[in-house]
Amino acid sequence: TAATQDDAGTTAARKTIDDLRSQRWFASDDIRGFAHRQRTQQMGMRREEFMGKPVIGIINTWSDVSPCHAHLRDRAQAVKRGVWQAGGYPIELPALSVGEVMVKPTTMLYRNFLAMETEELLRSHPIDGCVLLGGCDKSTPGLLMGAISMDIPTIFCPAGPMSSGRWRGQVTGAGTHTKTFWNQLQTGAITKDDWIDLESRMTRSHGTCNTMGTASTMTSIVDAMGLSPTGASSVPAADSGHPRLASWCGERAVAMVWEDLKPSDILSPASIRNGLATYMALGGSTNAAIHLIAMARRAGLDLSLDDMSAAAGEIPVLANLFPSGGYLMEDFHFAGGLPALLNKLGAHIDGAARTVEGRSLGAALDGAACHDDDVIRGLDNPVVPLSAGRTLALLRGNLAPDGAIMKTSAADPERLNHRGPALVFEGPADMAARINDPDLDVTADTVLVLRNSGPVGGPGMPEWGNLPIPVKLLKQGVTDMVRISDGRMSGTHAGTCVLHISPEAAVGGPLALLQTGDMVVLDVPGGRIDIDLPEDELARRRAAWQPPVSAYRRSFTALYQKHVSQAHEGCDFDFLEGTDPVPEPPIY
Ligand code: FES
Ligand code: MG
Repeated sequence: TAATQDDAGTTAARKTIDDLRSQRWFASDDIRGFAHRQRTQQMGMRREEFMGKPVIGIINTWSDVSPCHAHLRDRAQAVKRGVWQAGGYPIELPALSVGEVMVKPTTMLYRNFLAMETEELLRSHPIDGCVLLGGCDKSTPGLLMGAISMDIPTIFCPAGPMSSGRWRGQVTGAGTHTKTFWNQLQTGAITKDDWIDLESRMTRSHGTCNTMGTASTMTSIVDAMGLSPTGASSVPAADSGHPRLASWCGERAVAMVWEDLKPSDILSPASIRNGLATYMALGGSTNAAIHLIAMARRAGLDLSLDDMSAAAGEIPVLANLFPSGGYLMEDFHFAGGLPALLNKLGAHIDGAARTVEGRSLGAALDGAACHDDDVIRGLDNPVVPLSAGRTLALLRGNLAPDGAIMKTSAADPERLNHRGPALVFEGPADMAARINDPDLDVTADTVLVLRNSGPVGGPGMPEWGNLPIPVKLLKQGVTDMVRISDGRMSGTHAGTCVLHISPEAAVGGPLALLQTGDMVVLDVPGGRIDIDLPEDELARRRAAWQPPVSAYRRSFTALYQKHVSQAHEGCDFDFLEGTDPVPEPPIY
């Protein structure tokens, strides 16, 4: 039953203690109930501290290998404070941290693992509501996909962006400037000593990437969709406001349990549209295109790449943040953050959509002002106008029958219509071995192609799609080239990169048929990506194609390759999608 919302957009309490699932564990007058109460007291809890209280699970993705989540062990304590304050009983459960950078081949391989872990942690324990602590790229969709499927009251508390970086007077953003400085090192514009100095200067604090990469894209979209306290997504990780936010999430989670306010009450076609509008106004990461489809499908809602393309056709980039713009998340926060951005979107935002706060999004946005009109632009003064192309372009053609995407706001406008010969790499090892060969036949007009980097082929669809520019071309001053792949690209990166080609090469998509020297035709305004070859030649190559033999015969990766869907379908597992009911665990 859906929670009821009154005219002011607030939610009324509708559950009593006897209705809560935790009571199946704690209130039963049998030997099992005894054991649950006994074992809780074994941890030093007094009976009065947990009996008759809603149990709030804190799913924490802290670990020693996720700098973005380094503070979440402390933040869990702040969440607990809020839970106690509101009369709940908090229990913290660790979950896979999926920290970008350290996890190979890619955290994307483990997003579904985290989603499964979250859902099963919530299901198998006496939990009535939850606070999800995450924020680094895949952790946000992973945690939420699991919580959406479990559908108990859920509040997402984002880790928050790291503090702004500066090096010798120059603003540095995580990811974006790493790539810039790396290219400068290749051409001799900075020295090896500079490069080593940068290691300790660029990332000043714990927290997620401070550019509009995948982390801030996802936490902002989730915020706009009502799954976080409104505006939570930009609160800097190192700000004293961050533990206060965490405490409030704990307090609010208890109220949400009494109100029975669940993800299924919050997620709706309107909240998805709000998420899409936000995505485009942020100039957000291409990764979100996959995660949003996966999240929507978990909620039983329709969402396709065509819906995203339609939103991109209506909404220009308003957030002036790297890599599309020139500021960092801390600037965005001081400018008013997400509420200011949403207010500038005006009629593109449906204020009737609901939020975890128990009031409507419109009520939450009321009076939210913008304090810096250069950081958060208006529709009349966008960072990237619609006339310059969509933030996110959907491409189809004989090279990508099910679609491919490009972030045009981070691409070279000169290359959006391009015809050039393909230079095909079979995978990252092949590319690394050959790309900087001085004798390689490559010019600025060449189309660099990387295949076998999709969900099955990668495996896990790694962020290899921002193929490096060959050093000999960098030295000639070439800063961008057309690059195409079935992989993904970091949201912090820029370039004319056609990504997520679907179906991927490893399952026999046309990308598998491409040969070096074939002409590739990119027409972003026309929404097309094609190989200039007659259909009978493609058919001949298709007939001769042999599927690759996977090196993974056992392990999670073998399961992944068997069940993962293609990029345009969200890369979820077939057995996790949809809303089929799962029984509550028997307790005997
Ligand atoms: Fe964690 Fe960028 S590496 S958010
Ligand atoms: Mg990233």
